[in-house]
Amino acid sequence: MRFKKITKPSEVDLNIVGAKLLLGNQLLDGGISIEEGKIIKIGKEPSLPKADKIHDVKGRLTIPGLIDTHVHLRDLQLSYKEDFHTGTCAAAAGGFTTILDMPNNIPPTYSAANLRLRRDEAMTKVIVNVGFHAGLVDDKSEIHKMSSMGIYSFKLYMNNRHSQIDIENDATLAENFSTCKMINVPITVHAEDRSTIEQRINNFKGKPIELKDYCYIHDSDVEEKAVKRIIGIAEKTGATIHICHITNSSTIDEIKEARDKGISVTGEIAPHHMILSKDVLEKLGGWALMDPPLRQITETENLWNGLLNKEFLTVASDHAPHSLLEKSSQDIREVLPGIPGLETTLPILLTKISRGRLSLSAIPKILAERPAKIFGLKGKGELSEGADADITILDLKKEFVIDPDKFHSKARYSPFAGENCVGCVSEVFLAGNMIFENGEILTPPGSGQVLGVQT
Ligand code: NCD
Ligand code: ZN
Ligand code: ZN
Ligand code: ZN
Repeated sequence: MRFKKITKPSEVDLNIVGAKLLLGNQLLDGGISIEEGKIIKIGKEPSLPKADKIHDVKGRLTIPGLIDTHVHLRDLQLSYKEDFHTGTCAAAAGGFTTILDMPNNIPPTYSAANLRLRRDEAMTKVIVNVGFHAGLVDDKSEIHKMSSMGIYSFKLYMNNRHSQIDIENDATLAENFSTCKMINVPITVHAEDRSTIEQRINNFKGKPIELKDYCYIHDSDVEEKAVKRIIGIAEKTGATIHICHITNSSTIDEIKEARDKGISVTGEIAPHHMILSKDVLEKLGGWALMDPPLRQITETENLWNGLLNKEFLTVASDHAPHSLLEKSSQDIREVLPGIPGLETTLPILLTKISRGRLSLSAIPKILAERPAKIFGLKGKGELSEGADADITILDLKKEFVIDPDKFHSKARYSPFAGENCVGCVSEVFLAGNMIFENGEILTPPGSGQVLGVQT
């Protein structure tokens, strides 16, 4: 005969109490019960089960762990710019619990073998959840292999002659888009027309390229042309595409029109394109250079309006760290485009909230819910029973000045340096463990999770 063991009623691992929970458009005073890394109950405090541990957030705003789907973590041979540890510490400090890494690395994430190298290195270093984008290559078997290993998109750089696919050739792109459609993997797109860029650069042979020339070379028509073309290929093949770092409001209109026709397309805007204009570039020089470059102030306003009204848009930082040397040359040809964004995105947006430009409820929508939905990040992006206990707590009153010297990222520069901010991250929970509190990382390298990638 077998005896049933009698145990005391089980206690959950952790109750987060004293929270102002942002659930959709509603604020609820209550708490969250966590067991084995999952949220098992959300509600008023008396309704929560007993817990081994209690953490009181004293009325601070509690939102889902944020998701940044456009991050360059760089590691392996570019680890002097950023590595999986410093990059994910920057993510946690910025309120992000899940980030997706871009493939333009050395070695590039353009094969299953390189994806495996990246995964193995990441496993020992990351402190938040990290998934991978792989490069779109003209090789069906490699596409299948990478996709069965588990990636979140295939990235297409329409601007880059080093892409391992003939980006000038519509038929080649269409064929590979069809493969992606068949295996149900979205394509993320850097939408700039290479031929236009090259024609313009050719006019500067033997002459220096200045900032204003860079803006002309990468002007908005370059984006427009690429967007139109790539939406056409998506229409023909039925593939799902996501347009990265949108800088033109006309791109938002194109996406809207395409979606109305049933084409599967979404997009993202980087905070710098919404907030900074060309004048900042003139003032700061190469430090504020990124690709695509900053635009006219009127266009930044249009992007805001788009973001607030269109449910198919997200915000992504395009965290693109480079070394100080790589940013500081006098010759713009030698300055590498890209700025770090993980540690400025949320404070900058919270500051806009404090000035009434954005509603609080927009934050989880544009930085968690929609990105999770677009990239199929299961269990992420919302506070709900059964979801992963990835939770970000905000102090909306805290005032501070952005100081790149305090970044966790190796890239200690920012066009937002010196900006007065209102609102910051106070605590971050990953799978129910507090990994960040008041500026301090509380968890060892490798304690985060590599998402999706199988052996
Ligand atoms: C990115 C980088 O440095 O990897 N730079 C940038 O200015 N955005 C590349 C990219 O995202 O296109
Ligand atoms: Zn337990
Ligand atoms: Zn890009
Ligand atoms: Zn990028």
